[in-house]
Amino acid sequence: MASTTPRSVIWHDVECGGYGEDHALWRALAGEVDGPVLDVGAGTGRVALDLAAHGVEVVALDLEPELLEALDARAERRGVHVETVVADARSFDAGAGRFGLVIVPMQTLQLLDGAAERAAFFGAARRALRPGGLVAIALADALESFDGESDGLPEPDMAVIDGLRYVSLPLAVVDEGDRAAIHRLRQVMGIIAPVEEEHDVIRLARVDAVMLADEAEALGFEALEARRIPATDVYVGSTVVVLRG
Ligand SMILES: C[S@@+](CC[C@H](N)C(=O)[O-])C[C@H]1O[C@@H](n2cnc3c(N)ncnc32)[C@H](O)[C@@H]1O
Repeated sequence: MASTTPRSVIWHDVECGGYGEDHALWRALAGEVDGPVLDVGAGTGRVALDLAAHGVEVVALDLEPELLEALDARAERRGVHVETVVADARSFDAGAGRFGLVIVPMQTLQLLDGAAERAAFFGAARRALRPGGLVAIALADALESFDGESDGLPEPDMAVIDGLRYVSLPLAVVDEGDRAAIHRLRQVMGIIAPVEEEHDVIRLARVDAVMLADEAEALGFEALEARRIPATDVYVGSTVVVLRG
């Protein structure tokens, strides 16, 4: 039977859904502030639903309505409340002066293209913050270039959804100067062979914690001590830049 789950939701869950190494940090930061948390680039709610399940008032913002519809359905099934907002991280207004904490998990900020787009995010985040509120942004540790032929391939992400097996296989990380292009082969598996294949590329801006803190300080934020999410056998580590508005 054909899956009724949108492909955008399926691939988001396959490629992001298994990561849980950062949950404890977001919960801890939410406990350090007063007021609701705004999860920017929330996707299907991996972080927002976890925070809500731990009693945190959370608003989930994303560019993609389909992902937020999946989040809404999951929140309802789990009996938790998460407000959702379809908006762009560079221009959102989710309520001026409303949030104690604005979080940007899982390298989402690196999807923005360059310092001007990051500055637009900082402007929107500052409008959203309560006085003294925090912004916390996860950045992937430097992505080393690799290609499958000379370096071997990392483990694929996999999930079975509505009875079909979905596999996302990292093929290469290609250095493009100020960005790293991550190439993946997405396969929907039949019984013995793939029945569908597509080549997917995402580009992450090469920005490190020092550079980002400098950009934010130039815009009036105060950089606090950064936090760490250590690497595991499966995932690269992250540095979380923490800024006071
Ligand atoms: C890597 S996923 C992370 C999803 C989720 N935060 C997590 O940790 O599992 C990046 C998310 O950011 C969203 N996104 C990308 N660019 C965006 C933008 N300019 N404004 C808002 N959301 C954006 C994508 O739709 C996607 O859901």
